[in-house]
Amino acid sequence: MRHCINCCIQLFPEDAHKQQVACQGGPHHSHQACPSCKGEDKILFRVDSKQMNLLAVLEVRTEGNENWGGFLRFRKGKRCSLVFGLIIMTLVMASYILSGAHQELLISSPFHYGGFPSNPSVMDSESPSDVKEHHYQPSVNNISYVKDYPNIKLIIDSIAARNEFTTRQLPDLQDLKRQELHMFSVIPNKFLPTSKSPCWYEEFSGRNTTDPYLTNSYVLYSKRFRSTFDTLRKAFWGHLSHVHGKHFRLRCLPHFYIIGQPKCGTTDLYDRLRLHPEVKFSAIKEPHWWTRKRFGIVRLRDGLRDRYPVEDYLDLFDLAAHQIHQGLQAASAEQTSKMNRIIIGEASASTMWDNNAWTFFYDNSTDGEPPFLTQDFIHAFQPEAKLLVMLRDPVERLYSDYLYFASSNKSADDFHEKVTEALQLFENCMLDYSLRACVYNNTLNNAMPVRLQVGLYAVYLLDWLTVFSKEQFLILRLEDHASNVKYTMHKVFQFLNLGPLSEKQEALMTKSPASNTRRPEDRSLGPMWPITQKILRDFYGPFNTRLAQVLDDEAFAWKTT
Ligand SMILES: *[C@@H]1O[C@H](CO)[C@@H](O)[C@H](O)[C@H]1NC(C)=O
Ligand SMILES: *[C@@H]1O[C@H](CO)[C@@H](O)[C@H](O)[C@H]1NC(C)=O
Ligand SMILES: *[C@@H]1O[C@H](CO)[C@@H](O)[C@H](O)[C@H]1NC(C)=O
Ligand SMILES: *[C@@H]1O[C@H](CO)[C@@H](O)[C@H](O)[C@H]1NC(C)=O
Ligand SMILES: *[C@@H]1O[C@H](CO)[C@@H](O)[C@H](O)[C@H]1NC(C)=O
Repeated sequence: MRHCINCCIQLFPEDAHKQQVACQGGPHHSHQACPSCKGEDKILFRVDSKQMNLLAVLEVRTEGNENWGGFLRFRKGKRCSLVFGLIIMTLVMASYILSGAHQELLISSPFHYGGFPSNPSVMDSESPSDVKEHHYQPSVNNISYVKDYPNIKLIIDSIAARNEFTTRQLPDLQDLKRQELHMFSVIPNKFLPTSKSPCWYEEFSGRNTTDPYLTNSYVLYSKRFRSTFDTLRKAFWGHLSHVHGKHFRLRCLPHFYIIGQPKCGTTDLYDRLRLHPEVKFSAIKEPHWWTRKRFGIVRLRDGLRDRYPVEDYLDLFDLAAHQIHQGLQAASAEQTSKMNRIIIGEASASTMWDNNAWTFFYDNSTDGEPPFLTQDFIHAFQPEAKLLVMLRDPVERLYSDYLYFASSNKSADDFHEKVTEALQLFENCMLDYSLRACVYNNTLNNAMPVRLQVGLYAVYLLDWLTVFSKEQFLILRLEDHASNVKYTMHKVFQFLNLGPLSEKQEALMTKSPASNTRRPEDRSLGPMWPITQKILRDFYGPFNTRLAQVLDDEAFAWKTT
């Protein structure tokens, strides 16, 4: 297994073709230098205070009252010539390299984080380390921000006063069909009863020399996946069913979707889950088809291109379809049952929340609310779909999102100012429109300098619950996943009815290091200001309360983190 934490494909999977041009930042923000992929077998992470005390020599973090500005300078290393060459060849690891004055260790893998039982952040340093950071937060705030607090509190109260979780009006099937005629002509309303994933046979009218992926936009735009498709192309003809001179290919949709949210550990979940032999994911990690490519959105800022037809999306599941087809054709019952256990998954972290395309496509709406949402279509085709959601404290999510997507001049001050501006814009919208209209308002979402809306989990979830039933969801918290990955993975297996793993497979799945961690250069930024945190807690509070209520689980109120 490779763990390339910083490589571009891990970071920006939704725009596969970008890799050629180096990374360009996330969907909303632009021009991020692309972290290089050197040292692929290394993983960077931070150790927490206990660990630091344990390894007393490493104690470099400033304590308590030290001025933050000074701290930053210290960290940037202007004053600091502290480069520790350290040898801690003790219990578990082969080598550590302490990089600069940060509390980061470069650890050559393979390693066992079992050596750090007290440190949940090791599991997914994208997150719990952020949580941990607040233990070190300077007690000094930026005074000018503290002075502003009462004004911002007014904005937050004004938003809270207008928070109304109304039930949305559901579109009827005929309207959905009118919107997506082609999709409805391709996807049947009944699937093969013999496979766990929704699959069906479709006639293939080409010849044995026809390239089935010739026009696939995913292939055209992403060089990286060409070799995957070359393999598929070679195997293609061998996986057709031939009846009365006609040829049929097996088509499949995912059995389950990891629908969200960004910066909540979905990548880690994906990386672990795909180690299960019964799980097959799409050829591209995050196809973003339901929310973006279907509308021709490749990069949000670039405007619209040609829409990717549903066939392009289905092609992404061909590898799994080939195996399922083999199982259906197999003579031996053993072979059949083995292949029939295969389930297909998809992990686009935009599926839950991103409906930004709607304004360009659906002209009639009631009071600014979208007439159709992504889940309406998924449900129309796959009423039995299983949905996995990973969430985390939305305050931490936002900061992580900011660090990940913001372009330059990242700092606690910059974050604070962006949060304030976003809150003002959001309130402004709430004065005129409903909560739902604002959350799905593309103009507003693009205008906000941080993606405030993505943390309003309750709004999205309630809208998903208008079409899917609660039993179809498994909703996890990253905080729990990080502190006991074995437990959450077992919940996932159970939810997906997956067979048990061998001891070795299980060990691999639960021991492998976290995916998609924070970039090293961002780690040096430290935490957000306590005042920013307070503001965000105030803002997200009522939404969290509502979420906890819907899920009947206080943990989702994030009161204690
Ligand atoms: C506090 O925020 C202001 C901007 O409002 C900024 O100019 C100043 O540098 C910040 N102070 C500290 C100590 O970071
Ligand atoms: C393709 O089909 C033709 C006959 O239609 C046959 O002669 C040829 O060998 C086939 N090629 C492959 C690669 O199967
Ligand atoms: C939108 O327009 C379609 C016809 O184009 C109509 O059937 C539907 O009821 C309208 N929806 C709303 C919310 O007005
Ligand atoms: C979205 O928000 C902008 C700015 O707040 C507003 O001008 C626009 O009318 C809103 N659009 C919809 C569809 O609600
Ligand atoms: C970042 O800061 C530098 C100097 O402080 C400034 O010149 C530059 O315009 C800033 N960039 C952005 C995107 O704000």
